[in-house]
This record gives sequence, C-alpha cells and structure tokens, in this order.
Amino acid sequence: MKFDTPATTNPIDRMTIVGQPYERIEGPLKVTGTATYAYEWKDLPAGVAYGYVLGAAIGKGRIASIDAQDALRAPGVLAVVTHENAGPLGKGAFYVQRFLAAPEVDHYGQAVAVVVAESFEGARAAAALVRVRYVREAGAFDLAAQLESAPVAPQAEFGGPPETAVGDFDAAFAAAPVQIDETYETPDQAHAMMEPHATIAWWDGDQLTCRTSIQQMNWGLRDLAQTLGIPKETIHLQSPYIGGGFGGKGTVQSDLVMAALAARAVRRPVKVALTRPLMFNNTIHRPATIQRIRIGATRDGAITAIGHENWNGNLPGGRTEPSTLSTRAIYAGANRMTRNRLAVLDLAEGNAMRAPGEAPGLMALEIAMDEMAEKLGMDPVEFRIRNDTQVDPEKPERPFSVRNFVECLRTGAERFGWGDRKATPGAMREGDLLVGMGMAGAIRGGPISKAGARARLDRDGIVTIETDMTDIGTGSYTIVAQTAAEMMGVGIDRIAVRLGDSRFPETPGSGGQQGAASATAGVYAACVKLREAVAQQLGFNSAEVVFAEGEVRSGNRAVPLGQAAAAGDLTVEDVMEFGDLSKRYALQTFGAHFAEVAVDAYTGEIRVRRMLAVCAAGRILNAMTARSQIIGGMVMGVGAALMEEMAVDKRLGFFVNHDLAGYEVPVHADIPHLDAIFLDEVDPTISPLKAKGVGELGLTGVAPAVANAVYNATGIRVRRYPVTLDKML
Ligand code: MOS
Repeated sequence: MKFDTPATTNPIDRMTIVGQPYERIEGPLKVTGTATYAYEWKDLPAGVAYGYVLGAAIGKGRIASIDAQDALRAPGVLAVVTHENAGPLGKGAFYVQRFLAAPEVDHYGQAVAVVVAESFEGARAAAALVRVRYVREAGAFDLAAQLESAPVAPQAEFGGPPETAVGDFDAAFAAAPVQIDETYETPDQAHAMMEPHATIAWWDGDQLTCRTSIQQMNWGLRDLAQTLGIPKETIHLQSPYIGGGFGGKGTVQSDLVMAALAARAVRRPVKVALTRPLMFNNTIHRPATIQRIRIGATRDGAITAIGHENWNGNLPGGRTEPSTLSTRAIYAGANRMTRNRLAVLDLAEGNAMRAPGEAPGLMALEIAMDEMAEKLGMDPVEFRIRNDTQVDPEKPERPFSVRNFVECLRTGAERFGWGDRKATPGAMREGDLLVGMGMAGAIRGGPISKAGARARLDRDGIVTIETDMTDIGTGSYTIVAQTAAEMMGVGIDRIAVRLGDSRFPETPGSGGQQGAASATAGVYAACVKLREAVAQQLGFNSAEVVFAEGEVRSGNRAVPLGQAAAAGDLTVEDVMEFGDLSKRYALQTFGAHFAEVAVDAYTGEIRVRRMLAVCAAGRILNAMTARSQIIGGMVMGVGAALMEEMAVDKRLGFFVNHDLAGYEVPVHADIPHLDAIFLDEVDPTISPLKAKGVGELGLTGVAPAVANAVYNATGIRVRRYPVTLDKML
C-alpha cells in the first residue's frame, strides 16, 4: 500500500481502542519472569555450551601472541576462538568497530578471544588462563588534546550533512547588538540498559539461528551476514523480548558475532552474554562532545544569527555525533551555520544512543538560549516563542508537517506555575535551600519508513499479527495489538502479536524514534487487506462493510468475524510505503521541559523537586505507554544533567567506571513527582495512524532544563556536564 498524504478518515479515527491506556499486553510475562530474554530460552538443541568474551587489556596496539594451551587444558573447556582460528571476519554497515582484535587492537575491551566451555564458570575461569602478549602503542584518548594537536576533517554524520550554512552567519553575528559565544561540554555516556548484550547461537549445516537482543532485525541480518561473510538468507534472528536498548542494541554487537563463531567452532549451541564491565568498553556509547554556540539577536529578542559547532572523537571512519541537528530546525534566524568536526580517538566506538544528536545538542543549545534570554532581559519561555518558525529554517520551502512547539511552551509555563519564578538567580530561598526553576525546548526527528506486517485470521476470530518490529520495553506489542483491534473491530484480547523475528515482514524496528509510527502503519496496511479478504470471503460488498464488536456487518447481515475463516485461515501480508514524504515535510516532534530544583547552599547537594514535560507528537497511540516513554526519558535526562559520565583514563585509554555502581544513573530516591502531558494533536501528514514516535523526545531538553534551574537557584552557570555538586562550591 502506498501512503497518500494527508491521511483521510479511516477506522483508526474511531479511537475506541487506539489511544486508550492499555497496560502492556506482554507485561504479565515479564513480571512473572516467563518472558524469554535472549539468554533464557529453554527450547534449545541439546548440548548448550557457554562462551566468555575476553576483552583486550590495552587501549591501542597489537597482539604479539596468544597462548591458549593452559586454557584448553582447563576442565570442561571446548575451544578458544581467536583471530588465529576464527577465519576471515568482515564488518557491519552501521558500526565501524571490528569485532575481534586481529591482531591489531583498536580499543580497550575489544574482543581478543571467546573461550567456550561446558559451564559459564568454566569458561570464565579458563579465560583467565589465556596468555595474551600485547605490543602497546601510543593511543589518542583525550578529545580536547586531540582536537588541538591533530587535524580534523568534516565527517558525514547520520541525520544530515556535516556542515550547513544559510545567509552570512559571520557578518550577522558580528553586527548583532546582543551576542553570546559560549562553549559547552557533554561527557561520554553509556546506555546502561538492564539486560546485557546476549546471544544464543547454533548452526544447522550452513543455517545459523541466533536468539539475541537487538533493536533492528533487518540491520542485524545485514550486519551479521556482512561480518561472517554468509548470505543473510541463511541467518535467523529472534529478539521477541529486549530488556532495554536505548540505541546500544541497534544492530550487531560482539555477543552475536562471538556466539556465532563459538558455535561454529564447537558445533553446539553457545550462549554468550557480555559482562557488565565489558559492555562499557567493548560496545558503543554516546561520545563526549565539545560544542561552541554563538547567537546574535536584536535588542527585542529576534535571533539574527545562530551558529553551532560540534566536535567529538571516534574510531577512524566513525560517525559524528550530530549535535547540531536540533539547531538546524528548532529556532528561526536568517543567518545560520552548523559545523561538525571529528577527531580520531582510540576509545570504543561512539554511536547512537537515545536521541543521538538532539540529546547532547540541546544540552548545549538550550543552556545557550537561557544565557541569551538573560542577557536580553527576556523571559526564557518568551524568548523561545519569539523565535518560533513554521518552516524548516534551512529549507524554507519545506513546511513542518505539524509544529506545535509554541503551544508546548505556553501550556507548560501555565501548568508548571512558571509565573512564580524569579528571574534573578538566588532570589528564591527556603532556609538553607536555594530554589530555582528552569526550562528548555525539545525537538526530535519523527521520521517514518516503509514497514510490513502479516495478518492471519482463524476460525475463532483471533487475529495474529507478525512483524519484525521489536519491543525494547516501550509498548510495541500493545500498540500493534491496538491498531489491529481497531481495524478489525474486535477487542484487544482477540489479537495475538508476534514480534522480533527476522522471518516476519520487515520494519525499521526500534530506532530513530520511528518504530511506533512505522510498524503500526504496516499493521494498518495488512489489516486493510485482511478486511478486504474477509468481505470477499463472506460475499459482502467491501465498500459498505463495517467491522465492529467482533462482527462483520453489511446491510442487515451481521456475522462473527471468525466465520470468514471457517473454511481455513485467512492470511495476508502488506507493506506500507511512504515515498519521498520526509523530503516534502520536516517531520519532527516537539516538547517543553520544566524543572524545579533545590540546591543546598552549604553542601551543594542538588535535588530535583518536580518536573513537567509537555509533548506534541501527533496522535498518541496509547496514553499509558507513551507517558511511560516520556517519564522514562525524563529520568534519563536527570541522569544526563546530574550524574552520568564515563570517566576516561587518558593515559591507558579506557572507561574507568565500567559498572552500574560507578556509572551513576538516577534511582527512585533521586526522582520526584514527574508530570508528562501530551497536546491533543494529530498529524495526518505522516501516516494513517496520524501518529509519531515519542521514545526519544522525552529525553531531549531535560538535562538543560535541570541545568538552567540550577543556575536560577544558585547563579552558577555550569557548561560542562554533569552538573555535580563539586561545581556548586
Ligand atoms: Mo535510537 S539511539 O535511534 O535506538
């Protein structure tokens, strides 16, 4: 099916099931411990063995020799797979990292070997007996130093070109009566999802089956096929339940590759889970950034020049963190410049983490906007409203499909009681506590991609939907079921949903905040086809037929839905295609974040007291799961503001705090009451569901809102995240 924009009225608009706050349909499986996460499958071929990944102990250099003799003699050890016996290994398309040191070591924690044994403990013990001699080389581990000493070149980023320019930024900035020019820093951050990277792999002849934990099945197939040098038709991936990903499980990581290699070596199924410390140094992370922002404005607060430069580091050939993306779209201004530069660093690969680009970009831009508002003597909410734009500021011919940013700002200010804020920092005091309020704007791309689904009706009236969409804890199962239920006129309990299998019709999966909108559009297309098949089977005129309350009705006839499958299951499949939709419209989601903090005047302890998010993301498919995505993003944003930072050992080249004790994220006691509300918005431009994703929007803008609140409380402007108490003293 081809999507014709704008969407016309369709069965989804009834909203009897779509939009309702259904609890997650797979929730009971998860809370009773019966959902099969990657490491937990029981229905496996006999003889499961365990693989333990040994990570490189140097940051840069090469392996001189590997002596596995003692390890191979240890009890229960079956194999030690290294670059010497693994066979040729390629790379995936999305990451630049190589999955095995061979013999060059690109970064600390890169896999050197996978030790396979009868038990996990046996494999781990034997891994300690593998003797690896390294030749250490000087590596580049310090972003700031590397930017000074080594030439850096523009790099392609994901999400846009490395540089953009409109008008004459330099002249307009120089001429602006009010200017700010500040530099901000964001640290390396870890996804820190609950479930580690894990895979069970086995071979049956040349057929490879992997039970794993990845967000995008189609990328997984492609990247594993490229890495192993085998046709993707010979690979079967299954990820029905995923314990969080945040972009860290976008596609193939070393657990998948090592499990496949190990299973091939021992001709048995092999389980591999990355240990928590290995996750930090072996897999991808959000790279640290240095960002310079210049804004020029007239005295009455109109931005005339806006410039944003971003620097980050990566492995050779790695991607830029596209921190300038949001600056290209969020505010007006006739003269604009964005520029990304990359340094080569010999740390683990920097790549996608929840709202790549927007999250760290707004951490800088939205402090800069706060600084500029103060310089102008304008309220920060009013300053943002003053600079709203209804067309893409870099491509004026391209309208936003829907843009209700101003309404987010106004609604938030009113609901939060923003009017009670004192503009002068330090003016609100309660005993020893300095109280402040801060806010920030939020924007995150809301793209959509072609997506397929299969729908099957049986004689009991059960509709089974199959797509390779994944559920990373977000509610995909539930919104897919709601979509099908609404389309077929049945209760949600009549829908069975099967996700996360590479043999199901392809979707973009969970990534880029496009999964919800794309996958449900594919389900819509399949259900349109199923409705036609049902009508035809029943001899009804499909133009008149109504699907409601478990029945199919036409004229004065009404029959139970299942009757259409009385002679056998009806199975259909379709793909929804969107053509050049994203070229014609700027597809974005918007929000506004408000935070109140209290800072102890003597100890510098920072506590967030309350937070509010107002979001505009098209039709909300499930009021509960969408809210959960937003408040989850807000929790993550508090972490980004106040805690999260991977400390780099700049001498030896690794992330030091590589566990959940040292890498701090918020716990319950850190999080106050959170409010998240959605504007009543539909976006008929984007899909028949008129919906966009919300999973990444909830994070963007949170950290700067908190940082701005800390400034309002204390008068201390922190431009280097996280805002920790030592910076308050
Ligand atoms: Mo997201 S970082 O695009 O999974």
